[in-house]
Amino acid sequence: MSKRIGIIVGSLRENSFNQMIANTIPELVDTAEYEYVSIANLPLYNADLDHGDGPDSVRHYREVIQKTDGIIIVSPEYNSGIPGVLKNALDWASTPTKTAVLIHKPAGVIGATPGAKGTILSQQQIRQTLDATLSHVMPAQKMYISQVMDKIDSNTRKLTDETTRKYLQRYVQQFMQWIDQVQWLNKQ
Ligand code: FNR
Repeated sequence: MSKRIGIIVGSLRENSFNQMIANTIPELVDTAEYEYVSIANLPLYNADLDHGDGPDSVRHYREVIQKTDGIIIVSPEYNSGIPGVLKNALDWASTPTKTAVLIHKPAGVIGATPGAKGTILSQQQIRQTLDATLSHVMPAQKMYISQVMDKIDSNTRKLTDETTRKYLQRYVQQFMQWIDQVQWLNKQ
């Protein structure tokens, strides 16, 4: 059975470069099913709202993640760190403490920036947050995309730079193997 991958983009911007990178993933590894997980309508995290199933948007968001075999986060870096909208979304997926949808979930992290450093700092924070949620972040492999504006086609809204496409393809293929490893571990 093909794997089901949730893709969370950490930018709400219409012409987001990170969204364009995310748009390219399905054609690079077409053996999986993909679902883009919207985080735009989630309220700001408030524990007073977080009882029962929570607000409808949260319930739907959690259900979508629950049904995936793994999630890939594709996110910009803001002020040397994790964008607030993404942190908010990860916080909503981290509760209830014992049954949260991120527990044991395989996760990958990718980031793109027009800058030179490829979102290294935000990826560190995203990994730290995912660790705290007890998800299983793919270790070792990293996918930093710098000078992204030179690597995309804004008409097709896809990644076009051949070298980066190969790296991205390899990253996602390795992520599929990581899911197998985590699923095996989870059964022990
Ligand atoms: C940025 N940007 C940015 N880039 C970076 O590489 N490191 C950083 O620390 C920051 N900080 C930052 C803060 C804020 C508030 C904004 C709005 C932007 C630039 C950022 O990488 C650029 O706007 C990207 O295009 C954002 O990603 P999307 O929306 O294109 O996916």
